[in-house]
Amino acid sequence: MALEGPVILAPMAGITDRPFRRLCREMGASLAVTEMVSAQGLARGRGASREIARGFLGEEPWWVQLFGEDPGSMARAAKIVEGMGAGGIDINLGCPVAKVVKTGAGAALLKEPARSAALVRAVRRAVKVPVTVKMRAGWDGGSINCLEVAKAAQEEGADGVILHPRTARQFFKGSADWSLIKGLKDNLTVPVIGNGDVASPKDALKMLDETGCDGVMVARAARGAPWIFRDILVYLERGEAPKPPAPKERLRVMLKHLELLGEEYGARLAMKRARMHFMWYVKGLRGGARFRSRISGVSDMGELGRIAEDFLLGLEEATR
Ligand SMILES: Cc1cc2nc3c(=O)[nH]c(=O)nc-3n(C[C@H](O)[C@H](O)[C@H](O)COP(=O)(O)O)c2cc1C
Repeated sequence: MALEGPVILAPMAGITDRPFRRLCREMGASLAVTEMVSAQGLARGRGASREIARGFLGEEPWWVQLFGEDPGSMARAAKIVEGMGAGGIDINLGCPVAKVVKTGAGAALLKEPARSAALVRAVRRAVKVPVTVKMRAGWDGGSINCLEVAKAAQEEGADGVILHPRTARQFFKGSADWSLIKGLKDNLTVPVIGNGDVASPKDALKMLDETGCDGVMVARAARGAPWIFRDILVYLERGEAPKPPAPKERLRVMLKHLELLGEEYGARLAMKRARMHFMWYVKGLRGGARFRSRISGVSDMGELGRIAEDFLLGLEEATR
């Protein structure tokens, strides 16, 4: 698994679609992973699953994350996405959401190390592209077994391991225990990507330093801030964190995002996602709450763009 850079956009269901991956890649993410795609859906030829797994034009490489619990359909799905041109396949061993866990997939696989090893084996045999696993620390505080699962994955031929060191039971409570990332790094030979609570360039450097991991993966902090990848790269290179983008620059990114969403989904369907992202883009800005309430009922892309322009150019004026 060769990484072009140290910072990767994490898979996020409903968020890391083609428009968002494209923005993040343009802003320095060396790789971006699709949201989790149902292996069964793909294996059964479901168009919607295939649609999620597709890369954007020029996305090179792109990685698809698969979830499932059946080695046979995981292998078939992996072959399909490899055939579509995906550059790598990540296996979801960490999703704690009930809908997924109750099917035996995601974090439920941490309770069944033999099955998770079988999934890696099946996918590894089915494709030539790199295969990684993304996991949590364990099912709960009494069963932290990420090292055992990661070692088995490595033995079965996984090319890298991504760890979000919270337990499935924790969801997002408490903080990520980065010492577990170090534990993997000290005991595995394949690359280890650290994930969890990287919210700033300083956090990224701290995680790299403390754990020795080969790269960091950012999820929540990229929402409404795709420039975080550029900021992290600049910080790692020069040791200085760039200032937050000026309102005008923020507006430019928002309008670009809106345009990409429009192209992807069409004006009507793009609106829900556009409003969601726009709410994140103004987080922490003065007057952000009023902006959010102004856009909450808007159903026209042009109007959404105009409200954003009005708000951010106003802020730009006020900061002069
Ligand atoms: C809305 C949302 C959706 C997510 N969807 C996925 C997913 O599809 N697959 C996955 O492996 N992790 C998923 N995650 C987990 C993230 O990839 C990441 O492991 C977690 O958020 C911790 O990283 P962070 O502290 O940078 O947010 C999701 C997280 C969020 C907030």
